[in-house]
Amino acid sequence: MNILVLGSGGREHAMGWKIRQSKKTEKLCFAPGNAGTASLGINLDIQVNDFPQIKNAILDHDIELMVVGPEIPLVEGIRDFIESDKELQDVKIAGPGMLAAQLEGSKDFAKNFMSRHNIPTAKYFTVTNDNIKQGIEFLKSLESPYVLKADGLAAGKGVLILNELTEAEGMLHEMLGGKFGKASSRVVIEEFLNGVEVSVFVITDGKNYKLLPEAKDYKRIGEGNTGLNTGGMGAISPVPFVTAEFKEKVEARIIRPTINGLSAEKIDYRGFIFFGLINVNNDPYMIEYNVRLGDPEAEAILPRIKSDFVDLLEGAADGTLKDKNIETDKLTSATVMLVSGGYPGNYEKGKVITGLENVSESVVFHAGTKMKGDQLVTNGGRVLAVNSLGVGMEEALKLSYQNSEKINFDNKYYRKDLGFDL
Ligand code: AMP
Ligand code: GLY
Repeated sequence: MNILVLGSGGREHAMGWKIRQSKKTEKLCFAPGNAGTASLGINLDIQVNDFPQIKNAILDHDIELMVVGPEIPLVEGIRDFIESDKELQDVKIAGPGMLAAQLEGSKDFAKNFMSRHNIPTAKYFTVTNDNIKQGIEFLKSLESPYVLKADGLAAGKGVLILNELTEAEGMLHEMLGGKFGKASSRVVIEEFLNGVEVSVFVITDGKNYKLLPEAKDYKRIGEGNTGLNTGGMGAISPVPFVTAEFKEKVEARIIRPTINGLSAEKIDYRGFIFFGLINVNNDPYMIEYNVRLGDPEAEAILPRIKSDFVDLLEGAADGTLKDKNIETDKLTSATVMLVSGGYPGNYEKGKVITGLENVSESVVFHAGTKMKGDQLVTNGGRVLAVNSLGVGMEEALKLSYQNSEKINFDNKYYRKDLGFDL
């Protein structure tokens, strides 16, 4: 089978690595991919939301299955685009359509969906310029800290948590005034939930789902979970507090109501659902939906999946997931993200990367890399994801840290405290 992966990060390298392991895989293409994916297949110089070029690539390379990494093409309707094109009728797609992708593309849509299906989540109120007064009233009814969210996609920057009511009121006005452009013309105000977060994933064909391994993601740049938010500095799977009992609560209160809700509302969902959860006194609450795998979570959970990944993707895409099996490794997986100094603020690109040949007992997924002549250089904030499996978290982390030391580039930075809170 010929497969196309959309995206260019560590998540897409990890998906490609897993796809390559399948006997079903023949040709494997990435659009646009990175220096790591080039060793697994063909990188196509096409951006993830350039639909006409994606169509050409599908036809040129006889693509039979497409897997979508990031949210942007999903929210912009890549699935609908392909399904409505007569020449592309036979392409299977692992990734939801535009309406389903609103679960990530609009916080208000997601919260209303949760509310319709009685899925536990923080209290909320959605504000536009037309109902600011009620918005302020709702804000006043909450206790500090105050959570304000731009409704639309804002590159991970649209959520603000403020301690003072006056600050929150000011920020609400700024957001509605265009702080995040169109994305914050609607703002969701939320009650603050106090707990530890965990990322839970399923693959679904809209009727059935398979639970994938869960992961804990480390979002802050600084040790001890301090400093600015990043795309993710590392991930660990499994997560010790996700016991069989907690998992059962998650399935009963959150996952099944979501799948049944989508089906009841005739929203055809084929692909991954990422449940961003928070554990509040041993009860799971939904923070957010994402309509894709997480990054760096994918680089921690995919190495724990023993089953044929292509078989699962196909099952989701063509509605036969019920017949598929998913087997996961009991080992612990730990991923350490090596980033460019200065990230998530300003940083330089083009730094030469050396030492990858010395890595042993870990897999290195490329996130932001490219080839410059015959040299591998940095090409983003998040550069490489070093993943290891071990008996327990300590062993897995030790391997990832040993190998992280062996890789060099100017201003390399990584968090040395992953797992400290587990
Ligand atoms: P989101 O984009 O909705 O995932 O929000 C980004 C981050 O903000 C989450 O990963 C949480 O750390 C935090 N957050 C969002 N909503 C809440 C909430 N209601 N209570 C506490 N923290 C939250
Ligand atoms: N790691 C969080 C995300 O992918 O959104």
